Formats: sequence, C-alpha cells, structure tokens
Amino acid sequence: MPAKYIQQTSKSKELYLRAKKVLPAGVSYFIRYFEPYPFYVNWAKGSKLKDVDGNNYTDFWMGHYTHILGHSPQKIVKAVCAQIHHGTHYGVSHELEVALAEKVVKMVPCADMVRFCNSGTEASMYTVRLARTFSEKSKIVKFEGGWHGGYDALHLAVKPPFEIPASNGLSDKLLKDTIIAPFNDLEGAKRKMEGEEIAAVLIEPVLGAGGCIPAEREFLKGLREFCDDKSILLIFDEIITGFRLAPGGGQEYYGVIPDIAIFGKVMGGGFPIGAIAGRREIMERMDPMIFERPKSSFQGGTFTGNPITLVAGLEVLKILEDGRIIHRLNQRGGKLQEDLQEIFSSSEVKARVNHAGSLFCTHFIDEEVRNVHTVYRADRRKLLDFHLKLIENGIFFLPTHSGALSTAHSEEEIQELLTESEKFVRSLKT
Ligand SMILES: Cc1ncc(COP(=O)(O)O)c(C=O)c1O
Repeated sequence: MPAKYIQQTSKSKELYLRAKKVLPAGVSYFIRYFEPYPFYVNWAKGSKLKDVDGNNYTDFWMGHYTHILGHSPQKIVKAVCAQIHHGTHYGVSHELEVALAEKVVKMVPCADMVRFCNSGTEASMYTVRLARTFSEKSKIVKFEGGWHGGYDALHLAVKPPFEIPASNGLSDKLLKDTIIAPFNDLEGAKRKMEGEEIAAVLIEPVLGAGGCIPAEREFLKGLREFCDDKSILLIFDEIITGFRLAPGGGQEYYGVIPDIAIFGKVMGGGFPIGAIAGRREIMERMDPMIFERPKSSFQGGTFTGNPITLVAGLEVLKILEDGRIIHRLNQRGGKLQEDLQEIFSSSEVKARVNHAGSLFCTHFIDEEVRNVHTVYRADRRKLLDFHLKLIENGIFFLPTHSGALSTAHSEEEIQELLTESEKFVRSLKT
C-alpha cells in the first residue's frame, strides 16, 4: 500500500487493531476489508465520506450502491426524523407499508403485490421458497458470477474457481437443487436446463458483484421465451438494478418482464430493506388465508415493514418515480464510461470499462467482458492497485468493485476521478 495512505490514517490503523480483536477479520463484512487496513468513517454526506483522521473521500461505492441520491439526502433525513418521533418500530400494520407497496406496484412492471423484508439475502431466500411453492418443483437455476446474498441454495458459482465452495458449512442437500448456467450464453444455458424439472430461473439483469456485466437483451429475451415454453418462473434479482437503471428497474430498461423481482439497496433510502414483488397469483401463495398450510409459503420477520426504512423508501421512490433523475444519471454514467475508456485506450494500458446506466467497472484485460470468467482472467492486482491509488488521493471505490454515480456527484468530482485515473495510467508507463 502506498506510504501516503498509512501516513494519513493513523487513527484508522488504531481502530483496525482494536477491531481485529473483537470482529473476525476486523470487519462486519469481509468485502469491506482492504489492505493494509480499511479507513474508519465517522461522517457521510452527499458524495463525501470523512474518516476518523479527517480525510475526505469522494465516494463511488455509495453504501454498496444504495445511495442514488448521495449520503443522507435532506428530504429523507427530514422524513426519517419526523418518523422517529412517531415510533421507531411498530411491529404491527401501518399505512407506510401500504403506501410503499402501492408505489412499487405503480413503478415496477411485474409487480401486482409486494412483501417487504430486511435485506437482499432474505428476499432471495424467500423468493426461492415462493417459486418452489407455486411451481411445485424444486430446482433453481442461477448464473455463473451471480450474487444473490449468502443464502445456501444460491451461494455457489459466484467467483471462479467454482470447484472451491464459496463458503464452508453449505449443506449439500440444499446445493443439489441448484443448477449453474453460463451468463450471456443462451444456448449453453438451455443445455444446462434441458430435461430438468425447474421451478425458477434467477438472474441479475446486470451482474453487479460479478463485475458490472450487462445481460445482453437477446439473452434475457431468450430466457423469457424458454421459461414461458417450459412453465418455469423467471425471477430478476433487481437488488442493484431496481430503481437505478429505470424507475421500473432492469425489467423496464430491457423490456423483458419477469414473473417475480426482488429488490433492496436503493429502495430503502439508505436503510436496511429487501422486497419481493410479483404477479398476484404467485404472491398470493404467501397468503395462508387463501392457501392453507402446507400450501402457503412463509415470509416474515420482526423488523419487516419497519417504518423508518419504509418512510425513507417512500421518499426516495417519489423522487425517482418520473424517471428524470435516473435518465440523467444514466447519461452521465455513459459519458464517464467513454471518458475513462478513452484514458486507457489512448495509453498502452489494456483495460475495458463496463457500464450499465450509472454503474461502471474497470477490468484490466484486452477483451470484451461478457462473463465472470473474463473478469477473473483480467489483472486483478492492477485493479486493486488502481483503487488503492485512488483512495490515497481521496477517491473511494471499494477495491476491485464497481462504482456507482449518485445525484450528489459533481462534474468536478468526476473530472478528479478522470485526472487521477490518468495519473495512474502514466505511473504504469514510467
Ligand atoms: C444482486 C444482489 N442480490 C442480492 C444481494 C444481497 O443483498 P444483501 O447484502 O442486502 O443481503 C446483493 C448484495 O450486494 C446483490 O448485489
């Protein structure tokens, strides 16, 4: 790690040394660790993070791509503060859950009904259960490089080499019903699915953790047709793409409508959320008054429909609903991708900048990046060095991960990112 980072983060280092004693790996989520130690934040507003040593960073990680309006936007903070005085967690029914569900139904093409939970992982877990209940079949198809959270049945084939399990402690019994298919390869995916009794095909319209890889439209359309033909449910994991690529998420952006979609991140306005939205006849399987045990599918939890999250979510969706902000962010994302790509293309450094809407990611490789195998053939060390160099100069990407634009990012901040990227490229040549 560059000496400058170590020199300017002494308090973070002290905190990390304390953290290592009480938190495994010193962190709450291992992806947040980076060498030699992460900086510790005590303030976030707009596009900025400030650490305990007083360093400022322009944040392109944006809370795992959550903050499409930047950190702590005024309107959301106001709505949340007002809600806190009315109650932090009711644990019973309230109007906000109706209002937010109505908003989702209005915005998202596949949504007739919605259920809220607390995280993307919960949403993916309950949606697998729901799909199995509805279809009365048990196999689930997921794609190479797809990340749907830590639920056992989906926690495989995330990063190559796939033969090494992504975690210990996964139950073979649960994994055996998961079929892995190649991404952006319709014929290859069909071959994997042929002759299988499949409940659902689950896909991210854009591989997020997998390296910002957009699904090709024809691939998604082909999956839709295949699923229709074989009576298989198509589920979109819109936890990153939802309310970011378009007001109606990836399904609106691509014009391919799934049967069910799951949401998180942006939808919570900066607070923990997950959601399942889908066709009425499927969603009603979660209604035990219509489908008595054992025909109904369970979903629930203590903090489901938490009013703090829901008031924040409602504010953010009201702001995004007409699509103007998203459209503008997508245009800025496209321009940033072109400018960043040009910096690499006009040098000897071989890199491809992928993007989808306001998401973007650099891969140090001289070939089109259409699947996760190419991502891991690219020079990951160089990507890590690139991000560490940016961090040292006040620009934060979670090392080796994609970046996300928010409305809080100024043109000057984007220009700084380009300037620092150019400096990095020059440093490689000397
Ligand atoms: C596409 C996708 N699905 C699911 C998840 C899991 O969500 P959570 O981390 O809220 O459990 C994530 C998280 O990064 C994600 O990117």
